[in-house]
Amino acid sequence: MSKNVLVTGGAGYIGSHTCVELIEAGFNPIVIDNFSNSSSVSLERVEELTGKKVCFYEGDVRDRQFLDTVMQAEEIDSVIHFAGLKAVGESVEKPLEYYDNNISGSIILFNAMRDNGIKKVVFSSSATVYGDPHTLPIKEDFPLSATNPYGRSKLFIEDILRDIYYADNHWQVTLLRYFNPVGAHKSGRIGEDPNDIPNNLIPFIARVAVGQYEYLSVFGGDYDTPDGTGVRDYIHVVDLAKGHVKALQAFEKDDLDNLLTVNLGTGQGYSVLDMVKAFEQSSGNEIAYKIVERRAGDIATCYADPSYAKEVLGWQAERGLREMCDDTWRWQSQNPQGYAA
Ligand code: NAD
Ligand code: UFG
Repeated sequence: MSKNVLVTGGAGYIGSHTCVELIEAGFNPIVIDNFSNSSSVSLERVEELTGKKVCFYEGDVRDRQFLDTVMQAEEIDSVIHFAGLKAVGESVEKPLEYYDNNISGSIILFNAMRDNGIKKVVFSSSATVYGDPHTLPIKEDFPLSATNPYGRSKLFIEDILRDIYYADNHWQVTLLRYFNPVGAHKSGRIGEDPNDIPNNLIPFIARVAVGQYEYLSVFGGDYDTPDGTGVRDYIHVVDLAKGHVKALQAFEKDDLDNLLTVNLGTGQGYSVLDMVKAFEQSSGNEIAYKIVERRAGDIATCYADPSYAKEVLGWQAERGLREMCDDTWRWQSQNPQGYAA
């Protein structure tokens, strides 16, 4: 069996961390990325961390000819599909861009896979597909819904993959539903590098801690949660990356279904103010904040039941809140301009 894994979006935040873990587990990532939300510096850093050359092709998953060229040049066994746009608010402003990039891109990729005889795929889905859950913790068989174009794109791609599998059960499909990825590699050499003003909590807090922003706006202080602020299941990106390695390894097990849907979370919820306090401890800096209006589309509480991941993949998160914040801080303080510097 070839150990070559095509990693779409492999230069991005989760992709670059996954490349490190893949290499350390003996896989050979072949990255394709159009660098629309990343740069090749992350891949240089992956090389530095692993001491291995990373094979990468610059191009777009919507470019069928490009995909055929890569798939014919490399003996690819499986695909991890990260490439896509991911900002919820932007997806409301630019639905067509999101549907084109995420849904059209996925269809073109899956067609190219089929025509090149590649039928193993791990897909980056999201806890967003659960909408506003009625009960907690969230299990994989909970009802699915979407409230914005980004979420709808994830839900639709999941449906496409389920249909592909029902039509040809030689496919092996693993849908990984991530909860809230945070943190960075412990070296501080790779991490999350948002292009613009960060939408997500931890990158924003990190920039307040280095003095780039004056204060954090806490979106809502009147939720039905212990301190009134939103509660999420934050998961260290290295744990998440290791989950992808486990998903690939599970393809080789004969006793598992060929269609798996798995939550990747810790099972532990933390509020916005818990995160502020934890980050203050890690950085030694005060994080100023103001409680403002709720953000449209946000829910009060979201955390996973991660037991199925343990059962089928033998995976569970190992890194706690302190490590998430320490590692984010190391990355942010050593790279205040991200990869640009
Ligand atoms: P990211 O933006 O850092 O990585 C995505 C990568 O894909 C980038 O390097 C970007 O340049 C590339 N890309 C985008 N469109 C492309 C295209 N058409 N062709 C080729 N490359 C393209 O994002 P991330 O946080 O690493 O997320 C990876 C995946 O995980 C995404 O699909 C995202 O929706 C999903 N996800 C992320 C989160 C999160 O909070 N970070 C949560 C749940 C799911
Ligand atoms: N928050 C603030 N201020 C900010 C940013 C966020 O108070 O400046 C709050 C939010 O209201 C929420 C919590 O911090 O309560 C987390 O917000 P994020 O934007 O970091 O994350 P979300 O849970 O809203 O969404 C993220 C990704 C989605 C993904 C989801 C589940 O952005 O794409 O996790 O994986 F679907």
